Amino acid sequence: MANLILVTGGTGFIGSHTVVELQQAGYDVIIVDNLSNSKIEVVDNIAKITGKRPEFENFDLSNRADVLNFFLRHKDIKAVIHFAAFKAVGESVNKPLEYYRNNVNSLMNILEAMKFTGVHNLVFSSSCTVYGQPEKLPVTEATPRLPAESPYGNTKAVNEDIIRDFCHANADINGIALRYFNPIGAHPSALIGESPVGVPNNLVPYITQTAAGLRKELSIFGNDYNTPDGTPIRDYINVVDLSKAHVVAIARLLNGKNKSNYEYFNIGTGKGLSVMELVNAFMKATGVNLPYKIVARRAGDIEQIYADTTLANNELGWKAEVPIEDTLASAWNWEKHVRGIK
Ligand code: UFG
Repeated sequence: MANLILVTGGTGFIGSHTVVELQQAGYDVIIVDNLSNSKIEVVDNIAKITGKRPEFENFDLSNRADVLNFFLRHKDIKAVIHFAAFKAVGESVNKPLEYYRNNVNSLMNILEAMKFTGVHNLVFSSSCTVYGQPEKLPVTEATPRLPAESPYGNTKAVNEDIIRDFCHANADINGIALRYFNPIGAHPSALIGESPVGVPNNLVPYITQTAAGLRKELSIFGNDYNTPDGTPIRDYINVVDLSKAHVVAIARLLNGKNKSNYEYFNIGTGKGLSVMELVNAFMKATGVNLPYKIVARRAGDIEQIYADTTLANNELGWKAEVPIEDTLASAWNWEKHVRGIK
């Protein structure tokens, strides 16, 4: 029988793509998601892509009793990938308690239930936000973490620490935190992708919605940064490439290839792109003319960050492969699919 992997948040953006890659790599998957920011139809679409329907349960992972009950009912789980979390940076500033309660309690409940039921392996969805604005670029895993810019960012840092400390106290638990840079794009099938509720905060969904005519124009938040064209630089990682990093992390844990029982890796392309470069790459990749204007800086934005991915390349045998034009075309195809645009 195939190894069973629990994917929390498996109907979300990165979660759904990871379920596809896990199933295509031969794993069985059970998703837990409370659908607070995703739709149940995602499960159907995963089944369409892979020909295999993942199991699905709907409950809130911040409920301790429900989590323990779930693990007791599923004794064959071999590893957990924990995506389920609130993720809106701005919202977290206004609702800190909701963010800490949801994001931190869920993780603690999962770790406790893993220990109690003998599940040994966890992959955690972390973020490059833990580096803040680093002094030296690109960032390696040795780059110091800086105080978080938002409660959301702090939940990532705190959760990394909780996993580190729990692994330190429990030699039988193995954790890997993956620090994602900026995940973008969609599955090449255009059956799953990113579905932000309301006005998107993130750059690529805003671009595709503008291209689809839902938004008048893209606002570029500042061109007076200390970068070659003045716009901020990020490391945009294709969501399918990113999902594959989870599959190799799971294999590393299941095969006992991890070098210590808590590890963390940068998951990016290693290449920084400015907002302006990304906008131009989108127009080139899709042939769509994107209306935009330069406006004031957005509060809390850092100037630039991109990954040194040497550790992930060497240790996980993973690297980003999809060219940025293909990634942006996939995001546009997904938007067209959602909007019914031919
Ligand atoms: N941007 C615009 N216009 C928009 C949206 C974004 O110009 O309408 C710019 C931003 O100023 C920034 C870049 O596009 O320079 C990327 O912005 P995103 O909001 O897409 O991504 P961020 O880098 O701000 O945030 C991402 C994740 C967070 C995570 C953070 C860590 O969304 O979850 O990286 O650095 F915390």
